[in-house]
Amino acid sequence: RVAGIEVLEVVDSTNTRLMQCAADGGACGSVCLAERQRAGRGRSGRGWVSPFGANIYLSVLWRYTLAPAELGGLSLACGVAVARVLKSSGIAEIGLKWPNDLHWRRRKLGGLLLEVAGESQGPSHVVVGLGVNLHLSAEQARDIDQPWSDLTTALGDAAPKRNALAARLIEGLVDALADYGDAGLAPFLADWHAFDAYLGESVEVVTGERRVAGIAAGVAGDGGLLLDTAAGRQCFHGGEVSLRPG
Ligand code: BTN
Repeated sequence: RVAGIEVLEVVDSTNTRLMQCAADGGACGSVCLAERQRAGRGRSGRGWVSPFGANIYLSVLWRYTLAPAELGGLSLACGVAVARVLKSSGIAEIGLKWPNDLHWRRRKLGGLLLEVAGESQGPSHVVVGLGVNLHLSAEQARDIDQPWSDLTTALGDAAPKRNALAARLIEGLVDALADYGDAGLAPFLADWHAFDAYLGESVEVVTGERRVAGIAAGVAGDGGLLLDTAAGRQCFHGGEVSLRPG
């Protein structure tokens, strides 16, 4: 199901490259990897620290007959796919933080950026971008604005080899992209909950000007974050989650 793999020495962003490729008629299943990114992008308009070295920066282009609005749960499905691969590669303590941050001991190891485009009634296409930290020096990581880690810290000599891991990640993502087209988020929900690193924790969700505190209660069938608040259970489809101190 992989249509072709492009490996670049350097690129602005593998996501930007595949979004352009999609606009130019690129095939479903196109994959792009880079050794480094000049302008790696994260969620919510943030950058993604992407130095040359040992890390994984990759994107996959997928095409759906579904409308963009039906792809709301896809980012969670992709998070589950990546967490499954990392777990089977030896990272026993891999966890997910909503919607799809990859965590080890409450530190960010990697993340996914999904960009969707298409017609309101379908078809649509999506570019799934994945960054995984295999090794970052403190100097390289100085611009990261949250607790972070890398697979070398997590596993030492037992850390998986980068290219073998990248191959497994591509395979896992492509399978998840196809499965989501057949059955949506439902087949991924049990695993999402099994990987949920914040279930039952006291957290705060910030959406624009709004700040809501509560207890994280997992995810809804549409991928929204469930929060038990003083005003009852609420469901969020955007925003940033953080642990409340104390
Ligand atoms: C996040 O957690 O904020 C998402 C990070 C996604 C980073 C990857 S690296 C490969 C791909 N190209 C990008 O510019 N971003 C994604």
